[in-house]
Amino acid sequence: MQRREFLGSIAAASLIPGSSFAQSSRRRLIAGAHRQQILPADYPDTEIWSFDAAFPGPELRARQGDTLSVTVENALPQSTSVHWHGLRLDNTMDGVPGLTQDPIAPGDSFDYQFALPDAGTYWYHSHAKSMEQVERGLYGPLIIDETDPPDVDQDITLILDDIRLERDGTVANFDNFHDLSHAGRIGNLWLANGQIDPAYPLKRGERVRLRLISAANARVFRLGLQGFDGWIVALDGMPLSDPQALPDELILAPAQRIDLMVDVTTDENEAFVITFERDGGYAITHFPISGPSVAARQDRPVLPPNPIYPIDLANARAATLLIEGGAMGGMRAARLNGEELGARELASRGMFWALNGVAGRPDTPLLDLSSGESARIGMANNTAFPHAMHLHGVHFSEVLADGRLGPLRDTILLNPQETREIAFQAHNPGDWLFHCHMLAHHQAGMGTWIRVSA
Ligand code: C2O
Ligand code: CU
Repeated sequence: MQRREFLGSIAAASLIPGSSFAQSSRRRLIAGAHRQQILPADYPDTEIWSFDAAFPGPELRARQGDTLSVTVENALPQSTSVHWHGLRLDNTMDGVPGLTQDPIAPGDSFDYQFALPDAGTYWYHSHAKSMEQVERGLYGPLIIDETDPPDVDQDITLILDDIRLERDGTVANFDNFHDLSHAGRIGNLWLANGQIDPAYPLKRGERVRLRLISAANARVFRLGLQGFDGWIVALDGMPLSDPQALPDELILAPAQRIDLMVDVTTDENEAFVITFERDGGYAITHFPISGPSVAARQDRPVLPPNPIYPIDLANARAATLLIEGGAMGGMRAARLNGEELGARELASRGMFWALNGVAGRPDTPLLDLSSGESARIGMANNTAFPHAMHLHGVHFSEVLADGRLGPLRDTILLNPQETREIAFQAHNPGDWLFHCHMLAHHQAGMGTWIRVSA
């Protein structure tokens, strides 16, 4: 276990205070700027943009079956909007400027209100200029509790990030063509709940529900747990019918979530969540452990399923998505706003990526579906970089090599030169964005959409 020198001291932390909702009570969230100590104490503080002057924003918590009502007030110097990532909600509440709503201008507000059919681990974040606004801190966890939550001793949310700060504490600037055309904006500081390696004390033998969320702009986290045994019980909010034993390495791409149910089994005085980097493993969160040794529990926890919309693969409408562009990718040309442009021209307009030969959101959807119809999308990553493709409004399954369907997800990672196929039932009417969650890639062209007609 190593700790990076520049990052120095370890800040003790308490849990982010959760806020519970009575059914339909309205909550305000104010998007604005504030200053917060992000770097170690001997460095300057940082001007962060966040919700309710807290970074990350407050943990919003509601119960499955309830209605969530949030008024977002914009006290930022630029327009914003809020997307409730992974929720299968009413399309008009999805928070995508230009597709589902107008941006919220500075000084204005927007009333979000939607039903919560699913339990699980979600998050909310700005969906306007998101490469910049999410990086500056406009995100927070959104936890929907089961009507009958499983019995655990601790329920801990870790929203992970990597922010790029200068040594004077400022968020590094955003006019960086390298970020747009390469892997995206990779940070220089790992954060869990806005802090460097925070501490959460645990007792030996405790069962912990650990909710991992990635709010990173582009980094694909490779994580490991040390000191725990247990299971992966949900991915992207959706319970696994067959929980998987905790593997040595967890891949967490931008926007993805992993719910773990783990028991504190170590005899050491500390347990860890580790991020594996090229030069070794670093603690991103640690857990001081106390109490006498205990035998590990044996029971395997299974979460109750969320509503299921079966996929009719045999009759699914099919589409393909060719992902092109980026450095070392050799994209020659693409259409932008109806105009065929060469790579040079595209670059001069900040465009570096194309989906099916189109840079930026096209006028026509990738798929035009009727509600209840099934669809499949085969994707080919013809680039030198990984992409985390996120579909709004529904969860999909990967169509595995043997034809079976994988677990439900809302964001899927495609490594360079990989091909993957996803399938879903279009049960939720509306216009749904489908884009890369490497936020620089989205800004530089990687976004399309699907239409589901009622
Ligand atoms: Cu989490 Cu379109 O986003
Ligand atoms: Cu991408």
